[in-house]
Amino acid sequence: MWLAWLASLAFLPLLTSASTWHGFWYDLGIFGAHPTLDYKSFDIKAPEINIAHWDSRCEDGYVLLSPRGHFYPEPGPLIYDHLGNLIWIERKYGMVMDLNVQRYKGQDYLTFWVGVDDGTRGEGSYYMLDSSYEIAHIVSAANGLKGDVHEFKITDQGTALMSIYEICQMDLTPVGKAADGWVYDGLFQEIDIETGELLFEWRARDHYAVNESFMDVGEKGTAPTAADAYDYFHINSIEKKSDGTYLVSSRYMYSITCISPTGEILWILGGKRNMFKDLSGGSATDFTWQHDARWYSDNVITLLDNGANEHTRTSDHSRGMMIELDFENMTATAIRIYDSPGHFSSHSQGNLQVLPKTGNVFIGWGKPSAYTEFTLDGELLCDTHYGPSMFYWFGWVKSYRAQKVHWVGKPSYPPDIAVDEAKRTVYVSWNGATEIAGWVLQRALLPHAPDSEFRTIDYFPKTGFETQFSFSKDTTGYLRVAAVNGKGEELGYTRVFEGNSGQIVSPSLLPPSTLEDRSIQEFLLAACVMAAIILVMWKSKSSLPSLYFRMRWWVRRRFHV
Ligand SMILES: *[C@@H]1O[C@H](CO)[C@@H](O)[C@H](O)[C@H]1NC(C)=O
Ligand SMILES: *[C@@H]1O[C@H](CO)[C@@H](O)[C@H](O)[C@H]1NC(C)=O
Repeated sequence: MWLAWLASLAFLPLLTSASTWHGFWYDLGIFGAHPTLDYKSFDIKAPEINIAHWDSRCEDGYVLLSPRGHFYPEPGPLIYDHLGNLIWIERKYGMVMDLNVQRYKGQDYLTFWVGVDDGTRGEGSYYMLDSSYEIAHIVSAANGLKGDVHEFKITDQGTALMSIYEICQMDLTPVGKAADGWVYDGLFQEIDIETGELLFEWRARDHYAVNESFMDVGEKGTAPTAADAYDYFHINSIEKKSDGTYLVSSRYMYSITCISPTGEILWILGGKRNMFKDLSGGSATDFTWQHDARWYSDNVITLLDNGANEHTRTSDHSRGMMIELDFENMTATAIRIYDSPGHFSSHSQGNLQVLPKTGNVFIGWGKPSAYTEFTLDGELLCDTHYGPSMFYWFGWVKSYRAQKVHWVGKPSYPPDIAVDEAKRTVYVSWNGATEIAGWVLQRALLPHAPDSEFRTIDYFPKTGFETQFSFSKDTTGYLRVAAVNGKGEELGYTRVFEGNSGQIVSPSLLPPSTLEDRSIQEFLLAACVMAAIILVMWKSKSSLPSLYFRMRWWVRRRFHV
C-alpha cells in the first residue's frame, strides 16, 4: 500500500512545474529559515522570495521592506521590484524600521527610522534619503525626547509626525498596582522638518486611564521603578487630516482616536470607550491589537486587525479592514475585509495601504514574512513570502511594515562588476539604480582612454538585479560595461578590465558631470570668491570701492599694465 503511495509521490513532481515545487519546499523551510540569493558583482545577500500567488495586476510599483529577525544577520532597508528582484539593499544604517517613500516639498524621499530598540519600542531619529541615496535630512524629536520606531509620517504641510515612548510616573491603583508606578506614556509630536521646531505634542496619559488598557499589567508595576514601566497605551500610528485633526492608533487600547488640533478627543472607535454603534454585528468595532489606522476617504478608515498579540490570539486570524463611519448618527460599518491568505495570525506589526494608482490594497503582515495584494473588493491578487510560511509564528525574518511605492533611484556611486576570467563571463549590477534597461559592452585600446574612444561592441538587456553575459576569447583591448536607460543614454560605467586576462585595471565611473552639476560647482566657486573678498574687506577695514582701487593698483604694479 505505502509502496504505491511512495511511487505516486515520485511522480508527483512531474505533474506540476519545478518552480511550484521549489515554492513548496521553500515554504516548508527545506532551504532554511532565511533562503538568500547572492551575487557575483555585489557582496550583500538578499532574501530569496517565493511568489505563492501572482497576477499581472500587481505589476505597478516597488516593494519596500526593512527585514530583521533572529535569522536575518545583517538587517537594513531593502527594495524589490514586483517580481521580487532586488533593486536596493543597504546595511550601513544597521537595523532600520518603517521604510517608506514620502513626498516633501515636491521631492520624493526614502524615509526610515534609525536608532536603538528593545524589540518593542525604540529611541532614534528619522532619515530622509534623496534619489541618489544620500542623506538629505535627519529629523529628531523635540524636548530631549527620542523618536520611536512606529511612525514617521510627513504631512501635506511639510511637517513630520512621530511616535514617542516616554517613561513617566502614573497612579497604577486602578490596575491594582503601586500609586507611584511607572508607565510608558504614548506621545506624538509634530515637528517642522526645516527648522526642527516643535509645533504640537499630545500624550496619552492626559486622556487615557491605565485601566482602559487590554494589555495585562502582569508583574509590571509591582516595584515602583522606571525599569518596571507598564506599556499601557502603545501608540503605533499617527496621521493628520486636512482639517487639522489627528488619527491615533493605540494597540493596547484596541482604539482609534480622533484628536482635535488643540488636543481634545473628538471621538474613539473601538476599545472600552468606543463611541460608535456597530452596524456590522460587532465586526466594525471589535478589532484587537491593531496597526496602521489611516484615512481612506473623509469617512472611511483602514487598519490591520492583528487579532493577536505575542502571547494570545483574540480572533481566528488577522485581516485588513475598511470601516465606514457616520459622524451624524455615530455608527460604524465594516465595508470591506481582507483576510490573511490561509488565515494565519500576525502576532505583531504590519500595515495596510490602499495604492493610489491601482486602488489595490497592499498588506504587510509584519511578523509573518509575507506581503499580499488584493483588489479593492478583496480578491487576492499576489501573495509573496520573503521567508518560509512554516515559520511565520516565530518572526525569524520579519518587517515591521511593507510599502508599495513609486521610486526613482539614481545612485551617486557607479555600477559594480565581477569578471570570471576562466569562464570569460561578466557580472554587472548597480545597487539602487531604477533606470537601467540594459548593459552595453564597450572597448578601447588603452585602459585609461577617454570616453569618446570606447566603442560599443555588444548590448545585453537587464535581467534582474545582476546581469551576466560572456565575451568572446578574441576580444582584445580594454573593456568596460555601461549601464543604459530605455533611451540608450549611458548612466554609469563599470571598472575597465583587460579583454584577454579579465584583470580589472581602473575604477568605476559616473558619466561626466552634467550641466546641472557644473552650475552647482560654479555657484560654489562664486561663493568662495565672495567669501574671500568679504574676508579681505574685513581684514583691511576697507570699503568695496577702495578695495577695488587698491586691487587695481596692485595688479597694475605687479603685471605692469
Ligand atoms: C477605571 O478606574 C476608575 C476608578 O479608578 C473607574 O471609575 C473606571 O470606571 C474604570 N474604567 C474602566 C474602563 O474600568
Ligand atoms: C442618520 O440617521 C437618520 C435616521 O435613521 C437618517 O435619516 C440619516 O440619513 C442618517 N444620517 C446619515 C449621514 O446617514
